[in-house]
Amino acid sequence: MRLNSCIFIVITCALLTNNTNAHKDDLVEPIDKPFVEKYKSKELDFLTFGDWGYAKVEEGQEVGNQTKVANVMMKWGESYHSDFVLSVGDNFYKSFDEDHEGVSSVHDEKWNTTWKDVYKGRLAEIPWYIIGGNHDWYGNITAQIDYSLNNDSRFFFPSTFYVRESYFGGSHETKVAWIHIDTDIFYYDPKELNDTERLHMKQNFEKFGWDNMQTIEDKLKWIEDKLIEQRKTKWIFVVGHHPLIGKCLDHYQMKKLRSLFEQYRVAAYFAGHNHVLELETTKFNQPVTYFISGAGSRTDVGCEGKDWGMPEGTLGFLHSVLRDDEMLYEFIDTTTQDFKVVYQGTVLPRPM
Ligand SMILES: *[C@@H]1O[C@H](CO)[C@@H](O)[C@H](O)[C@H]1NC(C)=O
Ligand SMILES: *[C@@H]1O[C@H](CO)[C@@H](O)[C@H](O)[C@H]1NC(C)=O
Ligand SMILES: *[C@@H]1O[C@H](CO)[C@@H](O)[C@H](O)[C@H]1NC(C)=O
Ligand SMILES: *[C@@H]1O[C@H](CO)[C@@H](O)[C@H](O)[C@H]1NC(C)=O
Ligand SMILES: *[C@@H]1O[C@H](CO)[C@@H](O)[C@H](O)[C@H]1NC(C)=O
Repeated sequence: MRLNSCIFIVITCALLTNNTNAHKDDLVEPIDKPFVEKYKSKELDFLTFGDWGYAKVEEGQEVGNQTKVANVMMKWGESYHSDFVLSVGDNFYKSFDEDHEGVSSVHDEKWNTTWKDVYKGRLAEIPWYIIGGNHDWYGNITAQIDYSLNNDSRFFFPSTFYVRESYFGGSHETKVAWIHIDTDIFYYDPKELNDTERLHMKQNFEKFGWDNMQTIEDKLKWIEDKLIEQRKTKWIFVVGHHPLIGKCLDHYQMKKLRSLFEQYRVAAYFAGHNHVLELETTKFNQPVTYFISGAGSRTDVGCEGKDWGMPEGTLGFLHSVLRDDEMLYEFIDTTTQDFKVVYQGTVLPRPM
């Protein structure tokens, strides 16, 4: 009996580590080795937002939604001397009739019109840590990674799954692990991707051998391996596009992610996708803070089951200051182009 279960585990492990469909040279496959950052400062200051790449100036508007958020973030980043931007996906949308989803290539003019020309000042000096959202997969996801590797590494997107380790605080050093993941394969059942836009995402999944259950198991195992590697790290954050809050969690394989994050006591999960400012706080038996900051250029309804959220129609972003023993955060409403702090709170480190 005992022997059998051991054999079963060995075989399962062997299967899980080998996705025979994955193509080794694809730029999308997970990167194992962490990217290391050292900061001299006593705290880390960062801005989190997503779903920012909708460039349309709508009828009756003098300033488009994207710019309304960008301008306030720029001032904010300057006064706080922010260290980086955490981008939670949907970097480029189709914004008008002749436009396309995502980017088409490294030559796409959207690199300038929807990113560089919009986010100026401090936002043009600091790195942006990028992940892919569904609209990025509707276009050419590889081109975004190619641009990061060969055009501008400030758009930091070395692959669809990667880990950063940052150290700050000088002599009493604090370690932070950031696990950046692609949630698209967990959120969409390939069988249901039949309309034109989504068909393109499905074709991209097929191209990479990502259209099967084996890939989902492989990527879950990769995430769990990283969580185990970081088990002694004081702060672990995960960044992914799709939310894990309330009813928004009810999609394909998403529940598996939430269980993992709670099992390994991730401090917080940052997401977008829903174009809102919302969160779920920790509870007696629920150790993770779940953020949604997806109001970077569009607005829509929130997730049923959240603990707090701004009404539909709110644009904005999330500002955080991470210290050794606490992370302070505040949601900023920028709908009127002025800033309004609408919610503040604290996240505590993992129990050691
Ligand atoms: C990216 O680099 C390529 C090759 O140097 C260049 O042709 C292309 O114009 C660059 N893209 C942008 C958006 O500047
Ligand atoms: C983007 O703008 C830079 C100058 O700011 C220019 O050199 C480059 O050719 C532009 N790229 C594209 C693809 O429009
Ligand atoms: C997508 O981008 C990659 C990487 O830059 C490029 O090699 C490929 O040709 C692009 N695909 C299409 C269909 O343009
Ligand atoms: C999508 O298309 C596939 C293949 O054509 C088909 O098997 C499947 O039933 C379709 N799914 C839906 C939800 O329409
Ligand atoms: C742009 O923002 C306004 C609120 O300022 C909102 O009513 C509108 O729906 C937003 N546009 C999109 C496409 O989400």
